[in-house]
Amino acid sequence: MIGRAALAMVLLGAAAPPPGATSCSGCHVLAGRPAANTVAALEAFRSGAKPATVMGRIAKGFSPEETQAIATWWAGQKP
Ligand code: HEC
Repeated sequence: MIGRAALAMVLLGAAAPPPGATSCSGCHVLAGRPAANTVAALEAFRSGAKPATVMGRIAKGFSPEETQAIATWWAGQKP
């Protein structure tokens, strides 16, 4: 059985960036970063488990599905 993340990667890998994704690159480079790693970081920022200056607010602006789509898209970009 194919996992949701893997399926999203197939669907989104070569597609246009999901809403909000390109805003991330203004502050740091996420290209090639494993999607699961980015999702985990954003979930930790959203919950407050990981201290943040701006990322807590940014992470709260995206649903878990949107976060997954953004992370998957970035993982598929060439660093
Ligand atoms: C205004 C600048 C800014 C924008 C826009 C921004 N970030 Fe961040 N990001 C930061 C800062 C600053 C940190 C360090 C944590 C903090 O202080 O909030 C960080 C940390 C992170 C980390 C953890 C890095 C690590 O190695 O631990 C991830 C993952 C991340 N951001 C993803 C994203 C994603 C995905 C987006 C777009 C949806 C995004 N960021 C948009 C400034 C930004």
